[in-house]
Formats: sequence, structure tokens, C-alpha cells
Amino acid sequence: MAAIVVEGGHPLDGDIHASGAKNAVLPILMACILADGPCEISNVPYLQDVTTTNELLGQMGVELGINEKMHVLVDATALNNHCAPYELVKTMRASILVLGPLVARHGQARVSLPGGCAIGSRPVNLHLMGLEAMGARIEVRDGYIHARADRLKGARIVLDTVTVTGTENLMMAAVLAKGTTVIENAAMEPEVVDLARFLQSMGARIEGAGTSTITIEGVDELHGTEYAVLPDRIETGTFLVAGAMTGGRVRVNATRPDTLEAVLGKLHEAGAELEIGENFIELNMHGRRPRAVDIATAPFPAFPTDMQAQFTALNAIAEGAAQVVENVFENRFMHVQELMRLGADIRLNGNTAMVRGVDKLYGAPLMATDLRASASLVLAGLVAEGETVIDRVYHIDRGYECIEEKLAQLGARIRRLPTTRAA
Ligand code: EPU
Repeated sequence: MAAIVVEGGHPLDGDIHASGAKNAVLPILMACILADGPCEISNVPYLQDVTTTNELLGQMGVELGINEKMHVLVDATALNNHCAPYELVKTMRASILVLGPLVARHGQARVSLPGGCAIGSRPVNLHLMGLEAMGARIEVRDGYIHARADRLKGARIVLDTVTVTGTENLMMAAVLAKGTTVIENAAMEPEVVDLARFLQSMGARIEGAGTSTITIEGVDELHGTEYAVLPDRIETGTFLVAGAMTGGRVRVNATRPDTLEAVLGKLHEAGAELEIGENFIELNMHGRRPRAVDIATAPFPAFPTDMQAQFTALNAIAEGAAQVVENVFENRFMHVQELMRLGADIRLNGNTAMVRGVDKLYGAPLMATDLRASASLVLAGLVAEGETVIDRVYHIDRGYECIEEKLAQLGARIRRLPTTRAA
């Protein structure tokens, strides 16, 4: 298994480009199942989760290609297999996103029920409840969700928890349903809006994406389209935190500052100077140490759970103490024990971490446990004295495009080892 080695203590200084958003491109690729013609998707990040999605679609008979502009071409007109097997779903929970499109377009789906996850139990009951409300017959048997429907029909669906992929699955199902679907307490994440815009470009009739009520008027068919994926707000935020932790200067180009308000607010509170343009963000700490900032995660537009681990790392070396409260996933503190191996002073109590900033962290071998936790360990490695070796970096490759190349471009001393050194 590959590992990343970071030599800490070098302030970052430079410019990078944001990649396309992982959590937007995955539903968009799955939504291509709904189209009656080929789709051309640009700004697709090179990520393990995109490879897994392509493999999943390919197994179903979807034709995939890349053109001379490096755009991904997806033609699902020959789709002939309606199964998402356990072997793929267990490596990527977002595979559940084929459920809505398959039932809506083909009237049947067999999707492995995702199992537990490193960050929480993550059930999919709301996805199933919403599809049933639209008339799908659902049975869970042999570890698989078996769904069947003639044509789905519009329904009023009230989600009792805000769910991102749940909202996306139901929106994708509703675009081809007969009649009007209203999703209440819908997720307002920018990735949900991006999916809605993609579906609209295929001819779908959707209103209210980005608010808590989404109304979808079903249409008889959707056509192929061309679409550029939204920039990744979490990747952008991760690099800005890296700049802040190292006391450096980082400019992220080709990004969308309007999707990052809560994160930028916290970076400002931590003492960062921020210059914000329409499609760039420049952070400058002028060599200063960040101040500790309290964090409480919640659905968009509040502070994102996907940035919690990175800010826990920032607080670990900040001036002062802060409280980090994780409200979205019940077990998303796997990075804490690893940060403590570098010398961080963190006390965990249920869903709250009390972080007291220390003057110095010291490099050590660490284990990556999930995507964002792994990113926080790389950030900590950038400031830890000596060498930090982060093992199991395949977690990072699921969601960060060329993280070590981008960090190296900013001046970090970072390299990848093809195999682990520690047993
Ligand atoms: N929930 C239910 N029932 C459901 C669905 C969700 O109880 O049917 C609960 C979950 O257990 C959780 C909460 O609702 O406590 C929110 O989970 P949500 O469904 O919103 O998460 P998700 O859709 O599975 C997406 C992102 C995650 C991100 C979360 C929260 C994708 C592919 N994944 O997951 O991204 O953390 O929303 O914003 O969009 C990541 O990129 O590292 C990542 C984990």
C-alpha cells in the first residue's frame, strides 16, 4: 500500500487550480443513465471514486470514453444490466446513486445495501422511503435492495434528516416520474444544485434546488447534454487550511468562493487575510500562527462536516483552545488519535473534541482511516517537526486529485512511497 511522506516546517507559498468536485461529479455521472443520448462531462477530476463509478457504469453496459479535450463521454443508451454489486458498493457508498436513475429509467434496480462505514452508520432508509412514496416496490434481501416500478409517480416527500445523496437520488428519480414531486427538507449543498443544473441541461424541470424545497415536474424523456462540473469546495478549503496552518500564502484559482462562506468565515476568525475574487481565493497568514476557532458541523450553508478534520488539525497547532462539535456523523473523529500521536492535545467526549493548541507537533508514522481524516493528517504533517509518514493513502486518492503534486507546487516537501515501510 502506498504511503505519503511529509517533511514539516516549510510555509506554503503559491498558486493552484481547484479540481472538479468529487461529490458533484459522482451523481452527475450516475445521472447520465437517465439520458436518451450521449453526455459530455468536463472538469472531471482524476479520482479513484470516479474510476469506481466508471467501472460500475461500464459493468451495466454504459459506454464510456474520453475525447481530445479530456471530457468524459457517457452513453447509457445500451445499458442492459441493472445491478450494482457488493464488490463495488463496499468500496464506494456513493454507488447507491444509481438506484434512483435505474428505477426511473429502467423500472428496476438491484443495488447492494452499503454496509457500515468508518465515519458512521450511514443508513439509506430515506432514499428507500422516498422511492416507495413514488410508487417503487422495494425489498431488501440477500444484502441487496431490489426495486421495481412501472412508471414512478410524483409525490410529496418530507425527509426527516437532511441527506445529500438521498436528495440527489430522489431528484434523479423524480425527473422522469409522472406528475409533480416535492422534496421537503431537501439538502441545499452546492453539489445538489450542480446536479439539478445538469439535469436541467438534459431537459428536466426542477425548481428550488439550493433551497429546502425542491419541486420537480416529471418529463417523458431526457436528452444528452454537455456540462462542466462545479469546482471542489472541500479541496479548495483543504488547501486554504494548509496555507493557514503553515503561516503561508495560498491562492486557489478556478474555484467558487460562494460555496465556501462558512469555511472562509472561520479562516478569517483564525486570523487569515483573505482576498476573494469571483473565481479565486487567496489566503495569507504573513507568517502568523492561526488562532483556535470553535467549529460545529451541520448541513449547508453551515460549516461542512467534510472540513471538520482539517480544522481539528488547524486547532491542534493554533494559539488558544477550541471546541469542535461533529453533528452530522457519529464517528467522524478517527483522525484525533492519529493527531495525538504527533503530540496534539485533544480530549474527545462524545461528538465533541476539545482541542488545545500546542506550540509544536512532532513527525510520526500515521494511519489514514477515511478520506477527510487522511487529508487532516497530511496537513498536520506539513507543520510537524521532522518526517510524518501517512500510510493507507488510498483513502486520499478517492477524493483529492494529485494532492502531493499540488502541495509540492505550493512548496511542500512531500513525496509518495509506492509501498509502506512499516509492517
Ligand atoms: N441519513 C439517514 N438516513 C438516510 C440518509 C442519511 O439517517 O437515508 C443520515 C446519515 O446517517 C447522516 C446524515 O443523515 O447522519 C447526513 O448524511 P448524508 O446522507 O447527507 O450523507 P451522504 O449523502 O451519504 C454526502 C457526501 C459526504 C458528506 C455528506 C454530508 C457524497 C457522495 N458524499 O454523503 O462526503 O460528508 O454528504 O455532507 O456526496 C466526503 O466527501 O468525504 C464525504 C463523506
